Amino acid sequence: MTIHIGAKPGDIAETVLMPGDPLRAKWAAETFLTESRLVNEVRGMLGYTGLWRGNRVTIHGSGMGMPSLSIYANELIRDYGAKTLIRIGSCGAMQSHVGLRDIIIAMTATTLSTPSSGIFRELNFAPHADWSLLRAAVAAAEARGVTTHVGGIYSSDVFYDERPDLNEVMTRHGILGVEMEAAELYNLALRHGARALAVLTVSDHLLTGAALPADQRQGSFGDMVEIALHAAFPGTA
Ligand code: HPA
Repeated sequence: MTIHIGAKPGDIAETVLMPGDPLRAKWAAETFLTESRLVNEVRGMLGYTGLWRGNRVTIHGSGMGMPSLSIYANELIRDYGAKTLIRIGSCGAMQSHVGLRDIIIAMTATTLSTPSSGIFRELNFAPHADWSLLRAAVAAAEARGVTTHVGGIYSSDVFYDERPDLNEVMTRHGILGVEMEAAELYNLALRHGARALAVLTVSDHLLTGAALPADQRQGSFGDMVEIALHAAFPGTA
């Protein structure tokens, strides 16, 4: 047990999928895993461990924003030995060629700050995805025929953003989409010798104001779970 995770030693798999929403963790575990069991429910942050085609996987919520994700990812890596962590979540598109329901696989994540900023100080560290996971996720997404974009994203600290000028700068520099967690996940994985990736589905569009209706979000979420599982276990049929 750690401060925020009630799982016993050995309850967490080496591979962890991290949706922001704990109820999405429950849905994904019930839908994709066999022999799944609840391993954490402290503060309602649900985590499940089970099997996907014989491979052991944990699906654990991260909460919203980098401070929340940082708590769970730190404890999963440092206390439970997680080695591969894949964020599955939504993002807002920042380019006109990116559409609703498209998948964005984040090569890097630009930020104003993360919980790691105190360490990096004057250094503009470039948090980046693990190459082997990135390559496998792109192959899995292409095999599913999902429109997929690979590139930089923006991990913001705020959802209700009062700095549209910054979004404009990001768009001008090719950033594909905005979310709120990936940069810190990448920082932590790089710091502790783990592998990380963020696979995102476009739920809204910053340039057009379009948004995916709530009833259509589950389908895109299922695609992401499958892409993440194939990326983690690329040999699995
Ligand atoms: N901003 C930040 N995070 C998000 C957004 C957004 O527009 N859409 C989905 N996650």
